Amino acid sequence: MTSDPNSRRIAVLISGRGTNLQSLIDATRDKRLDATIAVVISNRADAGGLERARRAGIETLVLDHRGWPSREDYDRAIAGELRARHVHLVCLAGFMRRFSDVMLEAFPNAILNIHPSLLPAFPGLHPHRQALEHGVKVSGVTVHLVTSDLDAGPIVVQRSVPVLADDTPDTLAARILVEEHKAYPEAVSIVLAGGWRVDGRRFLRSTTDAGV
Ligand code: GRF
Repeated sequence: MTSDPNSRRIAVLISGRGTNLQSLIDATRDKRLDATIAVVISNRADAGGLERARRAGIETLVLDHRGWPSREDYDRAIAGELRARHVHLVCLAGFMRRFSDVMLEAFPNAILNIHPSLLPAFPGLHPHRQALEHGVKVSGVTVHLVTSDLDAGPIVVQRSVPVLADDTPDTLAARILVEEHKAYPEAVSIVLAGGWRVDGRRFLRSTTDAGV
């Protein structure tokens, strides 16, 4: 269970540039986050985030999903690598693959994802464009536990930003990204600290959410 406060070994899974990975690396280095990044796994060999991990002296693995016959086989391979490194919490940071039940059952309530919208608004692809097209005045970032439903698991942390009249998807993404880099270390810290439970859809912390 992720609420075991003694285990602080995390993995970060990426597919791209890895700025959220960097925020977790920086937070562990600055002691804002009491965790060890045991391994960074990418499904793409050209993910820029791999270089960030190497620079920080973190082990990297490339597991190309095309090398396995099924989603389940790929998930079994990832779960095996994570277990071999005694990883307790899996942090998806721009990892562009969906997990099957194999990973969800291997890491129950122990996989986090970050999504650049205030879920449940605008799940899936192109959330910034979706937000602008919908005309919302506020958007933001959500860090949530991963379940079998896309971008729909219990919410650990959200941070909001204004949406401005002249925003493009890129300007909105840049404003949200600043908050992403605060939200992910905060969420990982909360989860690793333990003392929380999931009640239906709700992630409840016993200290701050008592009686809620
Ligand atoms: C972030 O916007 C994250 O919320 C989304 O994918 C993007 C990854 O960016 N899931 P980066 O690779 O962490 O810079």
